[in-house]
Amino acid sequence: MGEIDEMPNLVVDANIQSALADFELPTELGFGRVLVPVMYRCDYADGVWQSGHLGALEPLSISPAAKVLQYGHQVFEGLKAYKTGLNAPQLFRPEMNAQRLASSAERIDMPCVSTAHFMQAVEAVVKVCDAFIPTESGQSLYLRPYIMGTEADLGLGRSDTYTFIVLASPSEIIQKGTMKVLIERERSRVAIGGTGDVKLGSNYTAGIASARRANEQGFNQSIWLDPESRKMIEELSGMNFFAVIDGELHTPALLGSILPGITRDSIVQLAFAMGYKVVERSINIDTLLAQIGSGQCREVFACGTAAVITPISEFGEYDGTRYPLAEPEGIITAELKGALVDIQEGRAADNFGWAHPVIG
Ligand code: COI
Repeated sequence: MGEIDEMPNLVVDANIQSALADFELPTELGFGRVLVPVMYRCDYADGVWQSGHLGALEPLSISPAAKVLQYGHQVFEGLKAYKTGLNAPQLFRPEMNAQRLASSAERIDMPCVSTAHFMQAVEAVVKVCDAFIPTESGQSLYLRPYIMGTEADLGLGRSDTYTFIVLASPSEIIQKGTMKVLIERERSRVAIGGTGDVKLGSNYTAGIASARRANEQGFNQSIWLDPESRKMIEELSGMNFFAVIDGELHTPALLGSILPGITRDSIVQLAFAMGYKVVERSINIDTLLAQIGSGQCREVFACGTAAVITPISEFGEYDGTRYPLAEPEGIITAELKGALVDIQEGRAADNFGWAHPVIG
């Protein structure tokens, strides 16, 4: 569909103050576990987005036959509001999330939410959650916008009704410390021409069983290879991938099956500005493992909104073979992470125009 909607009215529901009255930030946040008890909701019916509502977080009432429940007809985003050392909260490149949500929606024939509508919803949630944005470095308000098809119809096809929601979760980085990563050589995540380059919930569901098998063998995550040759690195389940080889930064090229990560793009631009050579190409896992063995590749890392930049300390195979990295904490990794987080958290000059303050 992909039509551009009119900007819906924003209605602030009367229940919002009582919803927030007793809410306090717990000392342990984790990632995505704590929800501020408010939400933005906007329903789509009769071909238009209706009024948007900022109100109390409450259970949804949808038909058991809703398309989202039958066919996973859903797209989502993840972005963060930071308040570390800042007076006003700031978002990081939110227009990129708005544009990607629109591409994801278009890919599965959903009505798009315009960038203006997305920004109105996200900013309204950030403003009402201002007092609950954690302020320690590494913490933020993780925002989860999503659109789902709600029509009650078991037939396979687009939905006539949709709901756009924004949730807010005071959170920490998803994976603290370093990660051990299992090379997933048996299963595949997505194919070129499939939906890997947009953000559908179903792409992530496809990785859950592999992640469990990885966890059972002492790994934090799996890394996916291309489905055709089973040799080229794609991404982790929810994070893009970088390797530092001979002091250069290498990352899988965007060939249509991996997510064009906003953190990935920021790292490419930052690293280039910091004087690193950045190479976007197909990366053969076996060549990389040999380079890890020879010391040519001393550090690798994963990145994403939830992960920020997380060093990978070891790769492993199902058969028990392990490939430890010479720099498990990553020296260049730490330098890049410091530069990125300093912009996100407002400590460094933002020469890229990425920070988006939310005023008022
Ligand atoms: C994000 O980084 O925002 C993601 O979408 C990853 C998610 C699986 C937690």
